[in-house]
Amino acid sequence: MSEEKVLIFDTTLRDGEQSPGASLSIAEKLEIAQQLKILGVDIIEAGFPVSSPAQFDATRLIAEQVRGPVIAGLARANEGDIEAAGKAVAPAKNKRIHTFIATSPVHMEHKLKKKPDEVLKMAVAAVQCAKNFVDDVEFSPEDACRSEMPFLIEVLAAVIEAGATTLNIPDTVGYILPYEYGKIIAKLKSDVPGIDKCIISTHCHNDLGMAVANSLAGVRNGARQVECTVNGLGERAGNAALEEIAMGIRTRADFFVSLTTGGLSTNINTKEICRTSRMVSRLTGFVIQPNKAIVGANAFAHEAGVHVDGVLKERTTYEIMTPESIGLGGSRMVLGRHTGRHGFVDRCKQLGFKLTRQEIEHAYERFLEIADKKKEVFDEDLTVLINDEIRIVEQIYKLEYLHVACGTGTLPTASVKIKTKDETRQAAACGDGPVDAAYEAIREATGLSPKLENYSIRAVTSGKEALGEATVSITEDGRTFIGRGISTDIIESSAKAYIDAINKMVSAQNKGPETEVKVEL
Ligand code: KIV
Ligand code: ZN
Repeated sequence: MSEEKVLIFDTTLRDGEQSPGASLSIAEKLEIAQQLKILGVDIIEAGFPVSSPAQFDATRLIAEQVRGPVIAGLARANEGDIEAAGKAVAPAKNKRIHTFIATSPVHMEHKLKKKPDEVLKMAVAAVQCAKNFVDDVEFSPEDACRSEMPFLIEVLAAVIEAGATTLNIPDTVGYILPYEYGKIIAKLKSDVPGIDKCIISTHCHNDLGMAVANSLAGVRNGARQVECTVNGLGERAGNAALEEIAMGIRTRADFFVSLTTGGLSTNINTKEICRTSRMVSRLTGFVIQPNKAIVGANAFAHEAGVHVDGVLKERTTYEIMTPESIGLGGSRMVLGRHTGRHGFVDRCKQLGFKLTRQEIEHAYERFLEIADKKKEVFDEDLTVLINDEIRIVEQIYKLEYLHVACGTGTLPTASVKIKTKDETRQAAACGDGPVDAAYEAIREATGLSPKLENYSIRAVTSGKEALGEATVSITEDGRTFIGRGISTDIIESSAKAYIDAINKMVSAQNKGPETEVKVEL
């Protein structure tokens, strides 16, 4: 018997983007979707089209431009949502509508205020309506794991009759434990009439830290699609982490082979995991904890003497996966100030960037500046530099000059010069520290004072000359904007990140308010 595939349904752009504070522009969503395709995901849930014009546009753009994976749009069980999702995914070659309605007593009574028979009718009508737009329809009984089993079976049997092709079993509130989740999947697989025509899917939230374990328990019991997000992004404690699912199935192929004669695998190109994880972290502003499984900075670092000694003698003493298998540390190509334009362009191509002539000119100038300060420029440096270069953020305010003075026993002060289209503004301020002083001076010069929600700085590579990448998130009128800045000087990268976020905010304000439909998922 041949190997069976576990399909990877990525919902970073939908459930992941629902994380408080994670907000992505349309261009950033497209950038992530293109990388998800390279990563090898089977289905990309591109958004919740009815919820805002931006969600609709992002889903539609991804459907137009990303060929290969199935592009899915989310819809509640009503005609308006389904029509919006159908229109948004229409340009995709492979398209799916994912419709859902809650089936647990607590959701039906308090949220939907509907009786079970009404919910059943709405579920069937939703799938029938979605069938007018696409052949591939996924149905989710929201809060399935707190639903009554007989009702769940009845709803699933009815939606299969109506034409659903994938049945997703969400643990919406992250309540279930792996043993129980596995039993639910096994029961549905054996008792729902017609279920063998469909793919059973998992969708597990991480409130108790069980999302990945639950998803794999689902796979063990017959699920062949896993819904997950890069870095485990998502509502509250997040969703099952894609990288952990993919590496779990790959690393424990010996376990899964014992369940199905041919074994199980995914279509994920695991060598792209590291790059994808960093891209999502950079664009969402969500820093990855150092001890995060698979993609954390320490995931492959050995510190204890006994471990280091063991790994040097035989890698498998303490390593169950190689860093190369997730695309970490494979290439250590180093560029420097003597690297010519040709070598620079060549390396950018090898890293997967397609740059316009103008982008090359500008990026090469910046590369030389960095190479002057930092003797060795690594692939990681080049990646953040190019990503910074190709981002489309309107430069409403541009940092021309920054001077900061600080030291023990002195009051940190900063002066800035900021250029706009028509003038150059200057301001000086003091603060609690050099970054605070610089931010105060920027507020003074721009006349804007958005709330600073988060600030982080990370070294792109190791060493004292490492590039510092600062990420900030600011809010204004309930909207969040994430800014990034890079430099070998961390105060300068911090100032650039703040101005970047302000530029995004002002450019969004110029476009007018974004109206989101407030939906409880
Ligand atoms: O967690 C959940 O129940 C969801 C559904 C919309 C599938 O995200
Ligand atoms: Zn969810």
